[in-house]
Amino acid sequence: GPSVLDCDKANLRQEVQRTIDAGADYVHLDVMDGHFVPAISFGPSVITNLRRCFPDILFDCHMMVAKPETQVDAIAEANATDENGRSITQFTFHIETTEPRGLTQSVIDQVKAAGLRVGLALNPATPIETVLKYSDQVDMVLVMTVVPGLGGQSFMEDMMPKVSTVRKKHEDKDIEVDGGLKPATIDIAAKAGANMIVSGS
Ligand code: DX5
Ligand code: ZN
Repeated sequence: GPSVLDCDKANLRQEVQRTIDAGADYVHLDVMDGHFVPAISFGPSVITNLRRCFPDILFDCHMMVAKPETQVDAIAEANATDENGRSITQFTFHIETTEPRGLTQSVIDQVKAAGLRVGLALNPATPIETVLKYSDQVDMVLVMTVVPGLGGQSFMEDMMPKVSTVRKKHEDKDIEVDGGLKPATIDIAAKAGANMIVSGS
């Protein structure tokens, strides 16, 4: 799942097409709000525009935003379904933004009610136990392998025990890794149990 965060964003449509032509199984779209992370990338309206160009591919919307609950409806506008009627738009939010406010469960419920797939992400500093409370209910767990915020950082191999822990609990769950994935590190993540690999820079 290529991340287009570091692509030529003035040519986003062509850049997404380029990843698909190169064999992408899905596209990872990094939404940054300038609060949860310092940078601002692009928002749901851009994703809705992209959806009109790409009606068939899974969009994994990685919501690096402080208040994900305010963005669910806007991302739902970019929703589409596969031939079996299943959503191909995923709303992946950070547990650090909801757990301290007691909102993790309600955001999971809200995302599902909006008809989207739900992903739950955790930062390197967050223990995996925090996520295990909810992992039964989500389509995907995203184990960050860098501190979120920018591309081009080094892969944190010490996050692999988190991946293995989730894989031991859930044989079939989608487990994504994001940050520093490249030919030298992909196999390490895959062996630990990750099946969705994001790569940006
Ligand atoms: C970082 C983003 C990533 C980023 C990864 O905060 O979540 O998706 O694009 O870039 P690389 O692959 O360069 O680490
Ligand atoms: Zn990402």
